[in-house]
Amino acid sequence: MMKSVQIAIIGASGAIGIRHIGFLQTNPETEPCALADTAPQAVDLARKHGIPLYADYRDMLDKARPDGVIIATPNKLHVPMALDCIARKIPVLVEKPIADEIAPALDLVAAAESSGVPVLIGHHRRHSPIVRRAAELIGAGELGQLVSVVGMHLRRKSDAYFRAQWRREEGGGPLLINGAHEIDTLRVLCGEIDELQAVTSNAARGFAVEDSAAITLRFKNGALGTLSISDAVQASWAWELSSGEDVRYAQELTDAFLICGTKGSLALPTLHMQWNEHGGGEQDPLLRKRIPIAPADPWYEEVCHFARVIRGEEKPLVTADDATRTLAALLAVKRSAQTRQWVNIDALIAEHQRPAAALSSARA
Ligand SMILES: NC(=O)c1ccc[n+]([C@@H]2O[C@H](COP(=O)([O-])OP(=O)(O)OC[C@H]3O[C@@H](n4cnc5c(N)ncnc54)[C@H](O)[C@@H]3O)[C@@H](O)[C@H]2O)c1
Repeated sequence: MMKSVQIAIIGASGAIGIRHIGFLQTNPETEPCALADTAPQAVDLARKHGIPLYADYRDMLDKARPDGVIIATPNKLHVPMALDCIARKIPVLVEKPIADEIAPALDLVAAAESSGVPVLIGHHRRHSPIVRRAAELIGAGELGQLVSVVGMHLRRKSDAYFRAQWRREEGGGPLLINGAHEIDTLRVLCGEIDELQAVTSNAARGFAVEDSAAITLRFKNGALGTLSISDAVQASWAWELSSGEDVRYAQELTDAFLICGTKGSLALPTLHMQWNEHGGGEQDPLLRKRIPIAPADPWYEEVCHFARVIRGEEKPLVTADDATRTLAALLAVKRSAQTRQWVNIDALIAEHQRPAAALSSARA
């Protein structure tokens, strides 16, 4: 029998860290071998699971010598922790977003590329069978030319969620936490974002960080889109609530994305498609069908993929470079909200590239 892949978790007692312990335990090919966390509650968690706990993650990396590491700490810590793993040649799964600023994200891109150590970014929805099937259909031209796109992340998070101080501060709000998934999904479905304009507001919760955002997008392929985000509204137009992929929520039969093209349209996550075979107008009734998929838990699929990445069987599905483009779009939202100007994504990334990196991307 193949030896199970030994994976350590940094930030193990946090909201997603605890879930990663469960995914690693469920997968017969992986085992959580060590935990690192500075919080007092981590002691009971580690005892309950019988897994060694370290307060200092570097100490854990050196002593436990895991085959791979999952970093599930606040965004600001992602890159320095990942660089410490890369320095020890340990493959790493970094929770999304890759970082809270573009410059450190580019440092991680450079370190991953020069070291050859696999770096997978935790945009778990890339592993969703719903997203994958939709991307296949759109890529195969089933909707025709993409023209208009609507995205929504509209829900209300509990007040208890905001007890963690970092969730009330810059970078801890729905833009980087949830918008990271929505922007990333839009990139997968509709291609790269060329430019965007946005407004944000903190009026509902009154925290330093935004609770709501409204974004207008222009994709490189010419499609236009809007994305509305709020974690302070009584609504269920949000992937987590409607996809059935997150077992913590009762499934609502709503949609979070409407992807519309010249031949047809697709609603996600329900995967309801409507189209017109003759290209006629409203008098010509639309045909409708629901695209079938075999459901799967994307977080679990991500951990399975990470194990295969560690064993050298697969390349990371979401590279640091790829995830930096999602981060850049998120930071473009902030820039646009401050300046009230359109922000071009390539230009924003280029602002942070060091001269050598800028040169190689200009040559590419
Ligand atoms: N993919 C997803 O669906 C998903 C879901 C939730 C969160 N996330 C991401 O995961 C990360 C963590 O989010 P969360 O909601 O679990 O946060 P959290 O605040 O619940 O947990 C963070 C954990 O990191 C620990 N930590 C902080 N500094 C540390 C250090 N120096 N060494 C070791 N541990 C340290 C904290 O004690 C805490 O247990 C964020 O980047 C977030 O965006 C991803």
